[in-house]
Order: sequence, then C-alpha cells, then structure tokens
Amino acid sequence: MTSTEHGRSEIRIRGAKKSFSGRVVVDVDDLVLGDAAVEGLLGPNGAGKTTLMRMIMHSIPLDEGTVTLHKADGSTITLSELPAHQMMSHGVVKSTQVISDFDQLTILDSMLLAVAGSRHESPLRWSAEKELAAEYEDEIRHYLDYFGFTDPNAIAGSAGEKKLLDIVRCLLLKPEVLLLDEPTAGLPEDVTQNVMSVIRDLGEQGTSVVIVEHDLDVIWQLCDEVTFMAEGRVLMKSDPETIRGDSTVVEKYLGAGHG
Ligand SMILES: Nc1ncnc2c1ncn2[C@@H]1O[C@H](COP(=O)(O)OP(=O)(O)OP(=O)(O)O)[C@@H](O)[C@H]1O
Ligand SMILES: [Mg+2]
Repeated sequence: MTSTEHGRSEIRIRGAKKSFSGRVVVDVDDLVLGDAAVEGLLGPNGAGKTTLMRMIMHSIPLDEGTVTLHKADGSTITLSELPAHQMMSHGVVKSTQVISDFDQLTILDSMLLAVAGSRHESPLRWSAEKELAAEYEDEIRHYLDYFGFTDPNAIAGSAGEKKLLDIVRCLLLKPEVLLLDEPTAGLPEDVTQNVMSVIRDLGEQGTSVVIVEHDLDVIWQLCDEVTFMAEGRVLMKSDPETIRGDSTVVEKYLGAGHG
C-alpha cells in the first residue's frame, strides 16, 4: 500500500458508464477527483455532473466501471461495490438537496440526528443522542451562529435555510471527501462568501472537496483544480486559469453567457 502523494483521500473513476433510456449520459475513462484541496467540476447543463456524483455515492448503479476511494493512509476501498448507506462510514459525504427531517425537527435536533446517523447503524437511541448532544452541541451552535441562525430551537423555514443546514450537516460529519452539488445556488452574496470560506477551511484541513457550481466566481475563487465535463465525458482537468482560457471550454460553456 502506498499513501496518496498529497496526503488527502481521493476518488478514482475508471471506465464508468451510465445510460438512461439507452442514452449515454456519463462515460468517464479515467478520472481522479480529490487530488487538490478544492476541485471544481464544471460543465453545461446536462453534462452529467450530478449523475457522476450520484455514481460516486453509489446512489445509482454504474452500468460499467469502478469507483474507488484511495485513503490518505494508503488503504483502498471499492465504493462501487458498497451500498450507498456505507459511504459516510468511509468518510465520503455528499450534500443533499432535500432533507425532509428539517420540516419536522428543530434545527438543533436535525443536526444531532445527522451526526447520530453517521455513528450508529442501528436506529437512533435516545441515550446515545444525549451523549452526542454533549459532544457536538458547541460545534453545532458555532456553525449555526456563523450562518446567522438565531434560534437553534426553531424549525428551518426557507429553502435557503435548509440548504445551509445541509452544509452544516456535511461539516459536522468531518468528511475525507465531500461532494457539493451547487451549494451556493440561490443563496445571497454575503452568505455565499461565508459558505466559500468554510469550504476553503475544510480543504485546508485535509478534506478533499469536489464542488459543482454554475456561479463561476465561486469556481475561479475557490478551486485549486477544475475538471471540465461536456456530454458525459471529461474533456479537461487543469488549474482554473488554464480551464478559463481554453477554447473548447469557452466554446462549449463560457461563451454561452456563463463567462
Ligand atoms: N434519473 C434519470 N432518468 C433519465 N435521465 C436522467 C436521469 N438523471 C439524469 N438524466 C439525464 O442525464 C443527463 C445528465 O444529467 P445531470 O443531471 O447529470 O447533468 P448536470 O451536469 O448535473 O446538469 P445541471 O448543470 O443542469 O445540473 C441529462 O440529459 C439528464 O436529463
Ligand atoms: Mg446537476
């Protein structure tokens, strides 16, 4: 076993294909994600970015190919052979668009439930939650405060609040690899800046963050590396400046009013 060169965990995708109704939407030969602190996954609508993230999480099955996790300690895990619910226990976490728990629980309880779910395979026991509350409450309150939640005992109302809570949930899980699918879409500019700042910190602390985002300011400011996808294929992976200036990227994406 050899550890990854950069000391962080990375995902390798080999020969991965996915079709819907006979149409190929992802066809990735060989791609490493997570060899930089924060990596952007960029491409036009329908390029296959979300589908690729779902394939990594094994929330949809691959038609062909493998996804492996290469941990910083040198161990390798074949994610594409594991059920989706085991990803978290291997340190691989993805943001989720809709969390129904947020509608029924207080903000604080929904965060505790998220942490509890990551630690116990059996259904949640109340005594365990008490222990977790003692361990995590300060951290949860810190993040809630940071994102401007004034009352942890309220129930999240707006879509924006739920989105932020999902980011807090991801942070609490201390992932080795974190996949974020449009984390700042629909958020106000000042909140977007806060989200970018925690993502940056997380990357610097050793998490490999992979982020899909159409807000290009976020990509150019935040990412150390960018992978460009179109029509299901990876066309390029390079530093943000090179991607930004590449004629294919301009033609297929930036030129269409995204620049
Ligand atoms: N469950 C599904 N059933 C059928 N087609 C699907 C399904 N999921 C995705 N697709 C199709 O696969 C293609 C890739 O979709 P995907 O959502 O991965 O693109 P994307 O790059 O995330 O786009 P966007 O930037 O708009 O979010 C699209 O043509 C989409 O319509
Ligand atoms: Mg998408």
